[in-house]
Amino acid sequence: MTESHPVPQRTHYCGEIGPADADHSVVLTGWAQGSRDHGGIIFIDLRDRTGLAQVVVDPSRCPEAHALAESVRSEYVLAVQGKVALRPKESINRNLPTGTVEVFVDSLQVLNPAKTPPFAIEDGEISESLRLQYRYLDLRRPQVQRNFLLRHRVLQSVRAFLSREGFLELETPILTRSTPEGARDYLVPSRVNKGRFYALPQSPQLFKQLLMVSGFDRYFQICRCFRDEDLRADRQPEFTQIDVEMSFVEQEDVLEVIERLMAGLFQKCLGVEIEIPFKRYSYREALALFGSDKPDLRYESLMQEDVTDLVKDTEFEIFRKVIKAGGKVKGFSAPQLATLSRKNLDDLTKFAIERGAGGLAWMKVEEGGLTSPIVKFFKQEMLDGLRDKFGANTGDLLLMVADQPAVTDEVLAALRAHVADLYHLKTNPFGFAWVTDFPLLKRNEEEKRFEAVHHPFTAPVPDDVALFETSPERVRSQAYDLVLNGQEIGGGSIRIHQREVQERMFSALGISAQAAKEKFGFLLEALEYGTPPHGGIALGLDRIVAIMAGVDSIRDVIPFPKTQRAIDMMMDAPSPVEEEQLKELGIDLKPPD
Ligand code: AMO
Repeated sequence: MTESHPVPQRTHYCGEIGPADADHSVVLTGWAQGSRDHGGIIFIDLRDRTGLAQVVVDPSRCPEAHALAESVRSEYVLAVQGKVALRPKESINRNLPTGTVEVFVDSLQVLNPAKTPPFAIEDGEISESLRLQYRYLDLRRPQVQRNFLLRHRVLQSVRAFLSREGFLELETPILTRSTPEGARDYLVPSRVNKGRFYALPQSPQLFKQLLMVSGFDRYFQICRCFRDEDLRADRQPEFTQIDVEMSFVEQEDVLEVIERLMAGLFQKCLGVEIEIPFKRYSYREALALFGSDKPDLRYESLMQEDVTDLVKDTEFEIFRKVIKAGGKVKGFSAPQLATLSRKNLDDLTKFAIERGAGGLAWMKVEEGGLTSPIVKFFKQEMLDGLRDKFGANTGDLLLMVADQPAVTDEVLAALRAHVADLYHLKTNPFGFAWVTDFPLLKRNEEEKRFEAVHHPFTAPVPDDVALFETSPERVRSQAYDLVLNGQEIGGGSIRIHQREVQERMFSALGISAQAAKEKFGFLLEALEYGTPPHGGIALGLDRIVAIMAGVDSIRDVIPFPKTQRAIDMMMDAPSPVEEEQLKELGIDLKPPD
């Protein structure tokens, strides 16, 4: 059965055949998704990456093929040659793109049999650990393959756009030394230089800056970055950036190119028009309005407002207590939801409590005014003020959370999404925003020193350079983040291009002149050989594709991702290594604790 045959030349993909091919002979290859024996005639669903084709094996047409077809099981690899025929009306399958035709087999080859897979490829619900263990089978599933088709299209579109705009695609080393991006490094021991280690790049930050010193002017790279940090749905230890750097630019130039890149991407890959320029918020504005530097602009119609000042003298005990303890009262108006029942409101309250709030205050906006069991605790002018502040109309529902600021903001962010989803309120599918004017430095209270909010190569606003030595926390940066649907999908900055400023930055970060020279001497020196003003950005490709594909985790758009514990379940990596290898590297392992 498994003797080797030459692989027949495929004429069509399974998903491509249609009525235009009727009466033509075709050769298809693929995997048997299943077979059914209908009174001697065997039907096989043949699958490849484009879809399914129904293959019909009739013993009266080809007895050899029929005998072989009886042995075909799920996931056998087949090649069939046969004639396309229109299906009789009653057997047309409207759910299948190729459902109006079928292929009558004249010859069948089993190119390879298959063991029964641990899950059926056509199954919907499969545990993630099984999916990751048998990732090559998981990747056969059409709903998974769809994400990778999209990823491919995104990559092609990015390359074409940037290349058209004069960016050169250049590669930078993987075996390098530490580039500080705020995570731990993955280290690689050197055999030739015992006792020394390469670090895998957390990003190509310094290389791309040095490429600007070299005069390449515009660079991009679709590059893998490595960061040893706590993993989440949107974080992998190795991930892909669209890394960009430009010379002779200011912040505005970078934002403008990236807006056009993103709009083009969504247009080409999803057929969605994205309005540019994107909304912009300074870091302070974003915190004040959304309590987050990652504003989610999908729910603009549910704009969150801070009403703490308005209600600070209320008789409502819960609000009073929270405000006295430094908390905030914030909320939003949900359009036309005053009709919600007590049960609906109890459910929303439960949702808020489950996410950490003490409770949820609600008021209905009715003809005669605001109604709720708690309105009696508020003076009329407060109620009018609330209505105004939330821009509420008759029929709307006001929802408010009172708690410590972080809790209030977190619960409200979740609640806005939940309410919009539950009651099908109009939302933008894609809400882009720039967040700008970040502080350059933040205080690490534990270690009693300043650290870079972005990275140590980010330029300060020129007017603030004088504050480096006097009030470092007040130095503003020329950094920006790109946010999509509440997720940070990119970050960048204008860079320091003068040695003296870079040295002052290192010094503000508590890096001694000696340490700066040891770690970044090459950069400091390069800055003295004619460095053009430059800046750039890196976009998180995996996050962008995941949002475009509508999946919750970037694991779904990475062919071979790692688990939350940074394990590759299929390869079983990381793994122990041979004693001999360790010896060559000059490494002695201590027994694990
Ligand atoms: P930053 O550290 O902000 O900037 O990274 C850029 C973008 O990369 C994505 N990202 C990640 N995606 C998946 N898993 C991770 N562990 C992960 N970490 C980051 C995010 C993020 O916005 N060198 C600078 C860029 C520059 O200044 O030009 C940098 O790497 O979407």
